[in-house]
Parts: sequence; structure tokens; C-alpha cells
Amino acid sequence: MADIVGAGGIDGLARVTKVLTALEAERAELIQQLRSQRLASWDEIGQACGMTRQGASRRWSQQAQATSFGDAAAAYQQGRPPYPASAVDWLVPGNSHRVLDLGAGTGKLTRLLVDRGFEVTAVEPLVEMREQLAASVPKAAVVDGTAERIPVADGSFDAVVVAQAWHWFDAATALREAGRVLVPGGTLGLVWNVRDQSEPWVAELDRILHQHGPQVMDTRPELAAPFEQAERLEVRWEHQLSRADLLAMVASRSYVITLPETERTELLNQVSELLDSHLDLRGRKRLTMPYLTHCTRARLSATGES
Ligand SMILES: C[S@@+](CC[C@H](N)C(=O)[O-])C[C@H]1O[C@@H](n2cnc3c(N)ncnc32)[C@H](O)[C@@H]1O
Repeated sequence: MADIVGAGGIDGLARVTKVLTALEAERAELIQQLRSQRLASWDEIGQACGMTRQGASRRWSQQAQATSFGDAAAAYQQGRPPYPASAVDWLVPGNSHRVLDLGAGTGKLTRLLVDRGFEVTAVEPLVEMREQLAASVPKAAVVDGTAERIPVADGSFDAVVVAQAWHWFDAATALREAGRVLVPGGTLGLVWNVRDQSEPWVAELDRILHQHGPQVMDTRPELAAPFEQAERLEVRWEHQLSRADLLAMVASRSYVITLPETERTELLNQVSELLDSHLDLRGRKRLTMPYLTHCTRARLSATGES
């Protein structure tokens, strides 16, 4: 320790901070491994870190959830819905050429962008998701990276889109990075599919899904300068899926993936029970899931500056 602090002063403080930051990253990685392989509960992790269960889960579960998708990449690809055509057309101006799909996952949106003739680069940090993406959308360029450090040159895209992922990012850093990689006047588009709870069986499904705590996400975020005033669009649509697809959709939710095994199995059993017993669902081979798709779009100012 004395080696690190040295003669103290501002240089000593900088050295201590560097070591602490590296150790903190190491601790977060260990916790991520323990959770994703279900080797420890939040109680045990809290104890090992000298804090309560709630303190530990509040501090690390967001990160554990953001990085959990790799464990369920196949379920994600099977169960998650695509995005309605009118939303995609609104999010990316037709005169765009180079489009960046950030937090692209298995490529649910990437495919729709490629089909419109855009030259698409998909950025995704998890290898399991990138593998699914590369297999299902071979025309897209697939890059390992994060929203906070996008590994592409300044001003190299006409549009950046983010589907179902902005809430996982450090918004201020991601906004700065999106501004950096866009050409002046380029567009940032964010989209979320939200299940329409005005349908009673969907409300019941969501009650089961969120019994261990609500998932809070802002699907109409404000976007600061150098982006201009955000515009919004909401699209109501329906997704047809099989019973197996719906169970895969449930299994691919981050808060379900990161539950302890017994709670996860119990939750999936409750969803099966709902499918077997609800008057609007039982005996049906195909289900109709109603969605409200929330879109936000903002242009980078023409100078690229605030
Ligand atoms: C709910 S999925 C959405 C995937 C895809 N965009 C879609 O619409 O299906 C969220 C994705 O964001 C990715 N992600 C999480 N944190 C990220 C970050 N900081 N930077 C980039 N991607 C991130 C996850 O790995 C995951 O693939």
C-alpha cells in the first residue's frame, strides 16, 4: 500500500484511485460471473462485500442484467418481437446511407434496416448475441463495442438507432458518443416495444413477470444538446406468436435470466399455467400480443455543436 501512496500528494491520490478503479472492475466482473452462472445469491454476495442483500443487488444487478442476455441469446432470437415497419421508416430518414445499430443484440432491428437497403453496422458487446446476429443478418457488419465507447470514426454515420437498449447505457456518455459518430444533421432514433397492458391477459402476464420487483425504464427519454428537440411517435400493432415463442420471450427478459434457478422455474411455471387457464388463451396454438412501440427521434444540430 505504501508503494502505491508513495510520497502522497496529488500523485499519490491519482495512483490510489487507479488501483481502486481496477479492483472495482475486477469485483464487478467476479459478481457478474457468480450471478450469470448462478453460483451465489445476492445475500451471499452482500455478505462477502460487507453490505446488505439489497445494497449489493441495487449496486450490481443493473450491470448483471445488462450483461445477462448472452445466456439466453437463442431464446431472445426466438421470442422477442421485431419492430413495426412504420416505426423503422420514421426512425431512419430514407435518405440515410450508413446506419449504426447500437446494442444490436441478435439483430431484430438490424435485419429490418438491411432489408431497406441501408449499409448497416451493428455494435454489440456480448459475443453470444453477435454470433446470432452474424448468422441471421450476414449482410450487416458486426462489431464488438459498447455505446459508451463506439469503435468507429467520427462523423461516419447518417443515422444511429438503438432498439430496446438505451436504458442499459450510461445515457450522457452514449449521447456524446452518438453525437461524435454522426454526421452533422444526422439522426439518433430510439425505440422500445412495450406490451399493451390494456389487454387483461397481458396485464396478468406482466404481474407475474414483475412479481420480484418492477422494471423501471424511461421509454420517452429527453435528449440533450447537441441534439435538437426530440420528436415522438407511438405505433400500436400486434405480434403473432406461438406458445413456445411466448415462453422464450419470457425466458429472454434480463430480470428472468438473472433470477435464482428455483424462482426462475417457478415463474416460468406460472406463465405456463396462465397460458393453460386464461379464457382468452387456453387451447390456442397462436397468440396475439398487442404492443405499443415508443419511438424518439432527434437530429444532431447541423454544426454538430450545442
Ligand atoms: C434488450 S437487448 C436489445 C437488442 C436489440 N437491439 C433488439 O432490439 O432486439 C439489449 C442489448 O443491449 C446490449 N447492451 C447492454 N449494455 C450495453 C452497452 N453499454 N453498450 C452497448 N450495448 C449494450 C445487450 O448486450 C443486449 O444485446
